[in-house]
Amino acid sequence: MDSEWLTPKEAGVKWGIKTRRVQALCLKGQINGAVRIDRFWLIPKNTPKPIDSRTKIKKQLHSQVNEIDTVKDNNKPRLISLFSGCGGLDLGFEKAGFERVWANDFDSDAQAVYTRNLGKIDGRDILSVDEDDIPEGDILTAGFPCQPFSNAGNRKGVHDSRGMLYKECLRIIESKMPKVIVFENVKGLLSTKYIDGRNLVDVINEDLSTIGGVGYNVVHKLLNAADYGVPQNRQRVFFVGIKKDLKINFVFPEKQIKNNLTIRNVLEMPKDLPNQIDWGLSPQALEMIEYIPEGGSWKDIPYEQLAPRFQRIRDDMKKYRSPNFYRRFSRDEINGTITASAQPENCGIIHPTENRRYTIREIARIQTFPDDFLFIDDTPKNITAMYKVIGNAVPVILAQNIASSIMEQVFKGEQAC
Ligand SMILES: C[S@@+](CC[C@H](N)C(=O)[O-])C[C@H]1O[C@@H](n2cnc3c(N)ncnc32)[C@H](O)[C@@H]1O
Repeated sequence: MDSEWLTPKEAGVKWGIKTRRVQALCLKGQINGAVRIDRFWLIPKNTPKPIDSRTKIKKQLHSQVNEIDTVKDNNKPRLISLFSGCGGLDLGFEKAGFERVWANDFDSDAQAVYTRNLGKIDGRDILSVDEDDIPEGDILTAGFPCQPFSNAGNRKGVHDSRGMLYKECLRIIESKMPKVIVFENVKGLLSTKYIDGRNLVDVINEDLSTIGGVGYNVVHKLLNAADYGVPQNRQRVFFVGIKKDLKINFVFPEKQIKNNLTIRNVLEMPKDLPNQIDWGLSPQALEMIEYIPEGGSWKDIPYEQLAPRFQRIRDDMKKYRSPNFYRRFSRDEINGTITASAQPENCGIIHPTENRRYTIREIARIQTFPDDFLFIDDTPKNITAMYKVIGNAVPVILAQNIASSIMEQVFKGEQAC
């Protein structure tokens, strides 16, 4: 039986425009009667060709707004960066030879650091960014917000509106279809269920494997930053998808030997480095850490000195699964994960021998930001914000390792041509 509906591909053939353009117009509500079932669009058969709102003037305007779009230097692969934060991932990709054409983050603290060190960033909420505002790119990266999937967060997963920001990545990928996509997220994503009960990882793999009618060969892996030259045990999951028509299956880089990653090494630095300022601890936290020796934790604090909340946990450690609050790593260990909240209770943020948080520069070093990468510390509000943006970042050297592997496996041949 003849269907009353057209797929975007069939409509594209009928109207003489690309499938991707039809999908973009559907998303923008510019095709009357188009309906979306799961991720697929259907268009009533007798719908007239839509009037494309992309006039020449609009194009000119976009190219002015996105000055960085068009600058493409000596054949470097062009990077579209979503959820860019203060730029940890982006700096790693830049060091590996990619050229950013567009970056975006709606957080003003992240933007301030990004602009100071890396350049222009679009500050809009991604929900209000039209795909046409984003230039074409060869690779798209997205460390979409991790709170909904994080063990430290509420774990509402995809039911939390931030979890659905993943869908924004799909919308932009579908419109741009770059050769490579990279997602980064917390370990908790691996055990998150999608609304329909499927594992979120499977949903991501399936979505990407068919997107845009071409799809991506996707691999994902849980990596520990310390295996890639970062002085920090930080586990994050990475997805790398390569467009199927390139016929490449990405192989993650080999683990490296853990050389010179101890805290002692990180803390050896010239006294006059910028951002050597720390966010003061609360009186309660200060009182507690005075009892904790180098390499210890809250378990070293005498019972009677603990707040009632902690005493209750201490009374039944089995029930609470023996949490390791207030960890103070020793100088001969590799530091634990630096988190955005930077709270001593659940993060390795206390200096090994001094009763204070690490300074901004110290955590920046643990996240492998170079010493000439500058943070903003002129007000108490800025200081706390810097802990957040640094804790949110992908360690620069981890990003660089992944980016170099992508460059080698996907783009190297192209550049030589
Ligand atoms: C995990 S951080 C990304 C860190 C970044 N990859 C790096 O290496 O520095 C996620 C970022 O997403 C941004 N973000 C969250 N929701 C957003 C939205 N709706 N629009 C734009 N940015 C958003 C946050 O401000 C945050 O900086």
